[in-house]
Amino acid sequence: MAKIGVFDSGVGGISVLKEIMKEFPNENIVYFGDNLHAPYGDRDIEEIRTLSLRVADFLVYNKKVDILVIACNTATGAAKEIMEKRYNIPVIGVVENGAKEAINLTKNREIAVIATSATVKMGIYKKTILDFNRDLSVIEIEAPLLVGIIENGWKDIPENRMILEYYLNKIPASTELLILGCTHYPLIRREIERIFKGEIVDPAIETVKSLNIFLNKNIKIEENGKVEFYVSGEIERFKRVAEKFLNRKITFIKNIVLD
Ligand code: DGL
Repeated sequence: MAKIGVFDSGVGGISVLKEIMKEFPNENIVYFGDNLHAPYGDRDIEEIRTLSLRVADFLVYNKKVDILVIACNTATGAAKEIMEKRYNIPVIGVVENGAKEAINLTKNREIAVIATSATVKMGIYKKTILDFNRDLSVIEIEAPLLVGIIENGWKDIPENRMILEYYLNKIPASTELLILGCTHYPLIRREIERIFKGEIVDPAIETVKSLNIFLNKNIKIEENGKVEFYVSGEIERFKRVAEKFLNRKITFIKNIVLD
């Protein structure tokens, strides 16, 4: 049985965690939500790197995880390469997996990505997709207000719908494929689907498939794995939003300030 470390700037990584728990119910998981510092996507790259490394160090050195899943596109772009060199365990990010899935699925060679400002600034989806296939066209759209709204628990009110519409209306009408390039967005997938009628790629799903290489699914264990949650900021709000999306109760959650 492996111990999997999963982290995000807040509740977004819950979209990845949910897929991991579905696929690998017997593994022990430690989730860290750095919600004291969310959103990462409005910060500069150096700062995102420092914050991400602090969280990853906690998971690797303190919690002794066997695999690290960066359940955040922004942190994947800013810090995955450094983490791969820094730790002696597999480090899995979300971007490459999402990019590959979009390349497989696109029919008219046009791919749209909606993501945080930092992810768009780094251009990581565009770069990754074009590295695989130069003939594709990629449009990256930043949606800076969404993470904050989702951290607070999405409310179906006209203001929120208007903000979402504003971003999604930037997708050219000819584009039939949209990558949810921030792990917070699958939490409002239904709301996105109401506006965008094409195909949606959630990188979490492909990411979890790639975990298969490292985990042995065939080991049968009677009990479910243990999932521990740590947050750097407010517990109650995180718990409420995460439980709603996971559709189950969180039994172990602690606040921890990293330095
Ligand atoms: N959920 C993260 C991502 O995938 C980060 C969002 C943020 O904190 O800005 O990019």
